[in-house]
Amino acid sequence: MTVVNLRDEILAVAESPMVQIATIAESMPGSLKLCYGESDMPTPAFICDAATAAMHAGHTFYTHTAGCGELRQAIARKIFELHQVRYDVPEIMATTGGTMAIYAAIRALVGRGDNAVIVSPAYAIFSNAVIMSGGQPRAASLARSGGRFVLDLDRVRSAIDANTRLIIVNSPSNPTGWVVSEDEQRALAEMADRHNLVILADEVYERLVYDLSPVALAKGDGRSIAPSFARVMHDRERLIVINSFSKTYNMTGWRLGWAQTSERTIKAIYKAVEFMTSNPAAMVQQAGITALRDGEPYIAELRDHYRRRRDQVTAALAELPGVSLPEPQGAFYAFPQFRNISDSTAFTAALVRDTGVALAPGVGFGRDGEGYIRVCFASTEATIAEAMTRLRNFVMTNRGLV
Ligand SMILES: Cc1ncc(COP(=O)(O)O)c(C=O)c1O
Repeated sequence: MTVVNLRDEILAVAESPMVQIATIAESMPGSLKLCYGESDMPTPAFICDAATAAMHAGHTFYTHTAGCGELRQAIARKIFELHQVRYDVPEIMATTGGTMAIYAAIRALVGRGDNAVIVSPAYAIFSNAVIMSGGQPRAASLARSGGRFVLDLDRVRSAIDANTRLIIVNSPSNPTGWVVSEDEQRALAEMADRHNLVILADEVYERLVYDLSPVALAKGDGRSIAPSFARVMHDRERLIVINSFSKTYNMTGWRLGWAQTSERTIKAIYKAVEFMTSNPAAMVQQAGITALRDGEPYIAELRDHYRRRRDQVTAALAELPGVSLPEPQGAFYAFPQFRNISDSTAFTAALVRDTGVALAPGVGFGRDGEGYIRVCFASTEATIAEAMTRLRNFVMTNRGLV
């Protein structure tokens, strides 16, 4: 049999340990899948209707690779409305999900011999995009203080060397729920200046923040929103912000996101994207315009719902022995640490086989996630209550394991 040489940088991409858990869960009728990074709620009808109308109105052709002008203008308006920062259309590019924006941005900046410092634990997309680009990911672990995750600037600083091109920060964070403060953003921006680096800020969960302290809450028009790096970093060459429609509007399957940065960097990202996916689907872009224009009441409801679910999960986890939960300040994940778990994949595999409750092993978010489990709370009250009861029973009957 012929064996062709496949590129090392692709072979080095690790399969997520979550795949194993999800495969078991998908084969079990009645399983409770809190392992995925999405809500179990469908896209709201007003957005679906907009896509249907757009198709019938002829939005079935290629658009500009960076997205149609109307969508890019709508994104620029939303950025200004939320953050009072003005981006022009050439500084914004719509992409096939935030995923494409992240990959193309990293591809444009990182190559062989380079490295990127990633505030961790973190969604595996960042390290894998760096690896696929031929670079080396370097984790800068969050610390724990006062019942929360906090940024450890010394760890970030000591991970930087002459080959560092990027600092990657995802806030609100998947999987930890950590939200960066404006002071921390300023400190990172200063580091980027000093070391001639770019900050890749993944802000896809920016609308999903809960009871932030007045310091952490971005000063705006009173809407709940996480602080954006765009407010504190004025040199756009140094900043790439990634955003998405997926989490804010429950549009994960539609594949629509964007990048905002300097016009020069957008041009580079554009070149990469043109020959990979080209433009996001035309009717999806139209639905995105409607989501941005009419979506605020929906977002407010969604956030209230998630806040209640967060409180529900927090209360349930507090009853488990040996478990500590850093407060989830944003996104829709709880990331509890189980004192006696040294193999989170084995634990979550045993849990799903025994109880049908599928959770994501923390090690899937980097080595510093080991010992933790990610619980997605973007689900119904009843599903979460049942999952937490089964988890509790499992923990109580397997005290040796945990
Ligand atoms: C932190 C983070 N960034 C980016 C994405 C990608 O989102 P999408 O490609 O659906 O826009 C996700 C999805 O889970 C995420 O959690």
